[in-house]
Amino acid sequence: MTITESAALATPHRRPLRRTYLMCEPSHFTVDYRINPWMHPSEPTDTALALEQWRSLRQVFLSLGHQVELIEPAAGLPDMVYAANGGFTLGGVAYSARFAHAERADEGPLYASWFADNGFEVADATEINEGEGDFLLVGDVILAGHGFRSSTRSHDEVAQVFGREVVALELVDPRFYHLDTAIAVLDPVTPASGEANIAYLPGAFSDASRRILEERYPDAILVSDEDAVWLGLNSISDGYNVVIASRATGFEAQLRARGYNPIGVDLSELLKGGGGVKCCTLELRR
Ligand code: ARG
Repeated sequence: MTITESAALATPHRRPLRRTYLMCEPSHFTVDYRINPWMHPSEPTDTALALEQWRSLRQVFLSLGHQVELIEPAAGLPDMVYAANGGFTLGGVAYSARFAHAERADEGPLYASWFADNGFEVADATEINEGEGDFLLVGDVILAGHGFRSSTRSHDEVAQVFGREVVALELVDPRFYHLDTAIAVLDPVTPASGEANIAYLPGAFSDASRRILEERYPDAILVSDEDAVWLGLNSISDGYNVVIASRATGFEAQLRARGYNPIGVDLSELLKGGGGVKCCTLELRR
């Protein structure tokens, strides 16, 4: 089944919505420092392969009818390809990123000026936060990760900037250091027909945070460690099509059983930096 045919078969419950994404070409991608357990600076990386895999991800988004905007990659910022960390946008406002690690600090202002030049009102962050890596919009609520990167003070700042309920969730497994490696948002906008839903890896959260997730999302898909280690949860959904790591085959089957249309992509090279589909993709909500 082609992507367009499958979109036409979407059930009334699973309607794909057109989205707009910001991406950054991995022209300068490599792994020459280690700020998460996935990164091994002594192992070789292949920038050409990263580019090829990134381009096919972009192509998938375009073929699904989404719009992809681009920010110019900067030399010396190999992680800039992980655009999700560049900020968090909602209703024309962009909350800027302030990175936890010095290696990525210079990305913050670059993304912030891109937002300003592209129709966003920028809310300058005073607290440490890594954008959509740790802030996920689920229906009306913003789920907010802490424990490794974004601070809980940034959660308060986000609540103030956007006037939304912010639910703090504590991450406890260093492999899943950003919220978007541990939770996939399946219905990005609350569907008129029902609840917004998510998928998550229970073991990535503290007991208290897991209880919050169980209570709020009793229908959530619980993903296995085997799928999560391919960064399977680090995915992009338009409400029907879910772009995931092709190696997360268990998650793929779970999605299919729920009436979603999983589309597998291979980002093996970008996984060496500790990022997947979602990390490479920042949603623009103007
Ligand atoms: N090497 C990057 C870092 O450790 C990867 C970022 C992945 N991004 C994400 N949204 N999870 O910061």
